[in-house]
This record gives sequence, C-alpha cells and structure tokens, in this order.
Amino acid sequence: MEAFLVTGGNRLEGSVEVPGAKNSVLKLMAAALLAQGKTTITHVPEILDVEIMAELLRRLGADVVYRPLEGELVIDVPEVVGHKADYDLVRRMRASIAVLGPLIARAGVADVALPGGDAIGSRGLDMHIEGLQRMGAEFGSEHGFLIAHAEGGLHGAQIWLDFPSVGATENLVMAAVLAKGTTVIDNAAREPEIVDLCHMLGKMGAHIEGVGSSTLTIHGVESLQPTTHATVADRIVAGTWATMAAITMGDIAIDYAATEHLEIALDKLITAGATVEQTGRGFRVRMERRPKAVDIVTLPYPGFPTDLQPQFIALNAVADGVSMVTENLFEARFRFVNELSRLGANVRTDGHHAFIKGRKRLSGAPVEATDVRAGAGLVMAGLVAEGVTTVLDVHHIDRGYARFTDLLTGLGGKIERVDADALAPA
Ligand code: UD1
Repeated sequence: MEAFLVTGGNRLEGSVEVPGAKNSVLKLMAAALLAQGKTTITHVPEILDVEIMAELLRRLGADVVYRPLEGELVIDVPEVVGHKADYDLVRRMRASIAVLGPLIARAGVADVALPGGDAIGSRGLDMHIEGLQRMGAEFGSEHGFLIAHAEGGLHGAQIWLDFPSVGATENLVMAAVLAKGTTVIDNAAREPEIVDLCHMLGKMGAHIEGVGSSTLTIHGVESLQPTTHATVADRIVAGTWATMAAITMGDIAIDYAATEHLEIALDKLITAGATVEQTGRGFRVRMERRPKAVDIVTLPYPGFPTDLQPQFIALNAVADGVSMVTENLFEARFRFVNELSRLGANVRTDGHHAFIKGRKRLSGAPVEATDVRAGAGLVMAGLVAEGVTTVLDVHHIDRGYARFTDLLTGLGGKIERVDADALAPA
C-alpha cells in the first residue's frame, strides 16, 4: 500500500498536458472486440485501469500490446472470442462490464462476473440488462456471474432508458451495431466519451445517427473492421487541474483539453473568481484571490459532472462564503466528506445535499482516498492545508491520474509517494 505525503502552502504554476480519457479508452478497448483483426488506439493514458482491461481482453483471446510510454495499444482480436470476464478483474474495475454488449454481439454469449469497483453507490445494471433483453438476449445469474445468451444473434429494438446511464448507453450501442435491423435508444447519455466511442464505431463501419444527442439510431451491420483511433482528451483530468489552479491561487495552462467539454465547470470557476482563457493548445486557469463559494448540482452531461464534485467540495471548503452541493448520481459519493472534515473542513450533509462553510485554513492530517475523484479532492485540500496531509489508499488515484505526483511536482506542488506501511502510526 502506498500513500501520498502532501505539504500545503505552494501555489501551482506552469503547464500540464491532459491524456486521453479513462472513461473513453476502456470502452474503446471493449469495442475493439467487435471486429476481427488489429485495432490501434492512441492517446492512451498511463493508468492501472488500462492494464486491467488489457488483461481482460487477453483472457478473452485477444493479443494486446500496450506501450504506455507511447500511449498506444494494439489489440489483435481473433475470429472466435471467449465469453468469460472473471471476478478477479471485474472486481477491480467496474468498467469491465463494458465487454457485456460486445461479447453478446460477437460470441452470442457472455459470462460476466457481477462488478465491484469504486465505492460510490449501488450502481445497478438493470438498464443494461433490460435493453439487451429487448434486443433478444436472455439473462440468468449463477455463482456471482451474469450469464447472457443470444446464440441466434441480436435484433434491433426500441429502447427508452429511465435515466441517461453512461454504461448502459455504451453497452447497448456496442450490442446494436451488429444486431439485425435498427435500434433506437431514447434518453441516451451523451457524454463526450460516448461520442468518442460512436466515432470509433463509425470508423469501424457502424451506422449510428444522432451522435451527441439523446436519441441514437443504430442500423446494424453484418460485420465491422478494425481501425485506428485517438482517445478523446480527459475532461475530468482537465477539470481537476483547473480546480487545482483555483484552490492554490495558481496559474496553470492545461494543454490538449477542450473547454467545450467543461462548460459548466469552467463557468463555476469563473464565478469563484478565476480567469479562464483559451490558448492555442487548450486553456489556462488563473486565480489571484481567495475563491468565492459556488453552488453545484451534479447531472448527466452537459450538466455538472459528478466526477468533479469532490474537487469542487474541496474548493468550497476553503472558499469565502457558504455553498450547497447536490449530488444526483452516486449516493455514497459524500463518504469523502468525512475525510475532508478531518482536515478541518466545515461540511454537513443531509441526504444528497452537502452544505459547506468555507474556512480560511485547513490543517493537515491522515486521510483515506475512498475513490479516484475523492482522492484527487483530498490531495487538493492537502495542497492548501497547513502542514502535512497523508493520503492513504492512493491506488484509487492511480486508477484515473497518470503520472500524478510528477506533474504536481512539476507545477510546484509538494507531494511525495511513500510506502504506507513504513509510516509511523498516526
Ligand atoms: C460512468 C463513469 C463514471 C461517472 C458516471 C456518471 C466510466 C468507467 N465511469 O459510470 O466515472 O461518474 O459515468 O457520469 O465511464 N444506474 C442504474 N441502473 C443501470 C445503470 C446505472 O441504476 O442499469 C445508476 C447507477 O447506480 C448510478 C447512475 O445510474 O447511480 C449513473 O450510472 P451510469 O451513468 O451508468 O455511470 P457508470 O457508467 O457506472
């Protein structure tokens, strides 16, 4: 187990480059299963989840070459793919569920262990299952595995999602591209990562209309061809650096990032007092005074992203004023608040609302990263706390942030990766 020692007080200044999006690349990797042959994915972030997905694809029969330094993956998929996603991998990464749609479409059968993943709420699979059932798949469960069959192939269907679920939309799109006939998904999620997936599927020969809207119409084709595709930039990593600039009253140029994928979040930073400007390579965020408190309501895209909620709670914890943050996607995401309170933050939660009274100072203490974004929020708080903050369980942070400590150090932050077992008891 490793920990980060974060020493507060430094302003972050300089530039960072944003890698490809974790939440896109994992689905692009699953989508590679849909075509026999070599698919190449570039702009791949150097994170643990990519290795877990690569291992899953290998067990399904694909030959995967991952070159982390080049940010490149080559996935060679055989004519006949396996159908089992084992618990040891799915448990480590919930996004493994993204192989469900491709496996049913390609193999006519899928045995996928029921997922674990981030400890941020119940995260059901009902919309994935109901949508695939409408397309002709039959489901059962045995020994902790979800078992799906559609040996005769899937057929097109009309699907209305109760909620624009990211994972369900992706699984249904990946199943529909090889189904017989036309599938219409209404109330589909329209995150930039879903648009990225649809773009790659289009290059593979899929026919998808309405990309980027909440109604996707997919005309199934007989087969798809492998392709080469560059992963869209990680808007959550970009948004994290932007919030880091604001909380440390710093100045960060965030390269290879698109402001149009972060409109609400950047607007909130401007309300908090930051200056955001476009640069030729991305955008730059500067903050010259103590941030002002801002209210946040998380919603599916294009609403405020739940994956930036902990970072904005950290910002509000040291801001001038009182704020309310409403979490509409993951009920357990406020577990992070208990950790933040250990640093002296004044936060009270009631159901899916958090009320935050900004404090001028936080004070360093040992805290635990409860999920990847909570971990980022705690590091941010540590950067402005007096003394040293020890962030435990940093493997969560490594799942989403490539070269995190190097980049932070390069910006002037004081952060060190240490062996947690070697730390004196707190
Ligand atoms: C993805 C992202 C995650 C992000 C989330 C919302 C990945 C790997 N993860 O997660 O970082 O926070 O989108 O933007 O891309 N739900 C159901 N039944 C279903 C499906 C979902 O009840 O069949 C519920 C979940 O419990 C959750 C909410 O819907 O409360 C949102 O889930 P969803 O949009 O599917 O998120 P993920 O794909 O899991």
